[in-house]
Amino acid sequence: MNDLSILFISIEGNTRSFLKRLVSYAEQQHIINKADPAVTLKEITDQTLPAKETQPFFIFVPTYLDGGNGFDSGFTEMMTNSLGEYVEQNDNTKLCMGIVGSGNKNFNEQYCLTAREYSAKFNVPFLADYELRGTDRDVERIYGVLKQRASEFESEK
Ligand SMILES: Cc1cc2nc3c(=O)[nH]c(=O)nc-3n(C[C@H](O)[C@H](O)[C@H](O)COP(=O)(O)O)c2cc1C
Repeated sequence: MNDLSILFISIEGNTRSFLKRLVSYAEQQHIINKADPAVTLKEITDQTLPAKETQPFFIFVPTYLDGGNGFDSGFTEMMTNSLGEYVEQNDNTKLCMGIVGSGNKNFNEQYCLTAREYSAKFNVPFLADYELRGTDRDVERIYGVLKQRASEFESEK
């Protein structure tokens, strides 16, 4: 299997921390079993220029919403917009295998709402969620989910 390629955005560092641990976990798994893929990261920021992705990828997006309660009043995405715009441009959505969301459960119905919004907007599966920096179990669980989805995506081609 090819490397699992991930595009992400991280404002306060939680997503970056989670993904660095995912990269380390994948490296260990690859040493044990060569069939287990490595993970490669690409961080999107407000400074990232639009580009066309050439390999299938996953998106990891935290949730930053301004206002609203997530189901019957308005809310506005803030801070993470550059990731959504990057993916939407240059036909990149066609190569997006799925989305993993993160957030804080204190936000109740708005928990991980940006990932769920992106899933509907880009018509790609919402694969998993975790809170804040995630736990070691989340890292293992989500590595398994990504591997499974990458092999399904490969066979859908
Ligand atoms: C201003 C602000 C708004 C937030 N809004 C939400 C929200 O609507 N839903 C949610 O699940 N988490 C929300 N969060 C929590 C973040 O998504 C969470 O802390 C996440 O781990 C941040 O990721 P990052 O450190 O990679 O930027 C919010 C955090 C801040 C600071």
